[in-house]
Amino acid sequence: MALVVVTNRIPDSGLAALRAEHEVRAWESEECISRAECLDLVRGADAVLTLLTERVDDDFLAAAGPQLKLVANVAVGFNNIDVAACERRGVTATNTPKVLTETTADTAFGLMLMVTRRFGEGERIIRSGTPWQWGMFYLLGMGLQDKTIGIVGMGQIGVAMARRAKAFGMSIVYADDYDPPAEALAGLDARKVSLDELFATADVVSLHCPYLPSTHHLVDAARLAQMKRTAYLVNSARGPIVDEQALVAALQAGEIAGAGLDVFENEPAVHPGLLELENVVLLPHLGSATTETRAAMADLAAANALAVLRGDPPITPVTRR
Ligand code: DGY
Repeated sequence: MALVVVTNRIPDSGLAALRAEHEVRAWESEECISRAECLDLVRGADAVLTLLTERVDDDFLAAAGPQLKLVANVAVGFNNIDVAACERRGVTATNTPKVLTETTADTAFGLMLMVTRRFGEGERIIRSGTPWQWGMFYLLGMGLQDKTIGIVGMGQIGVAMARRAKAFGMSIVYADDYDPPAEALAGLDARKVSLDELFATADVVSLHCPYLPSTHHLVDAARLAQMKRTAYLVNSARGPIVDEQALVAALQAGEIAGAGLDVFENEPAVHPGLLELENVVLLPHLGSATTETRAAMADLAAANALAVLRGDPPITPVTRR
């Protein structure tokens, strides 16, 4: 029997699967675990289930000890894990792709609708008690039909976003260093373009790439200046892909029409400039936040742990796709 540590609360089904085969030491408080508490909790673990809020670096791995075999992130993004440090110590790292694809694409699509149709503004008007009246020119937004979406990162979530956009009558361009499998693109009429062309032509730019050193501030002042003044930015990937200060400046100057954001550069802090702008929709990192998806994420992370502790290959080792 091995020791599996779970560094934050996860759905019961994942814990039950682990408990059926191993000793489980799980963080049970409603409060998020602190760094010191986390380093203490992981001591002696053979496998650790982590959330995206935990930094898995050399200190974390050293605190766990040399017996550690696996870090199973309960998230598809794994920018919180120093994968090279894991490799140096022979620790496998896994994530939870696929199970959250549709839910996260729903979030991105919801942000796009909210910001282009000004639904957030409308809701705030009613809640604040501001007088309003139906009017021919009242709170007009941009229709999505016949517009172009530019998808940065055509992985599984990017493709799922493209399917939704296609159903809404949008044209699709995308930019990626990788080519998605042909079957993923079937029926989408999606055209691969350079980032320059994507930013210059899209009516909505939606980010679906991983956060890597190469994508840090991929959307900076220069990229924002390439966008049409009528275009919108949607980010449901990772906050630091966007230079938030540059985004605030572009929005204030009217260089782009608006932004829908589920993630932030210094989460959970939000740039104060964003809070003042009506043409921005802000969500507290709800990308995969459904009961069903969170259970599936916990189950997959648990299955990864059980596989590795049994001596089998991990089901979903971290990879670019
Ligand atoms: C992930 O899994 O990376 C998401 O950001 C969680 O919502």
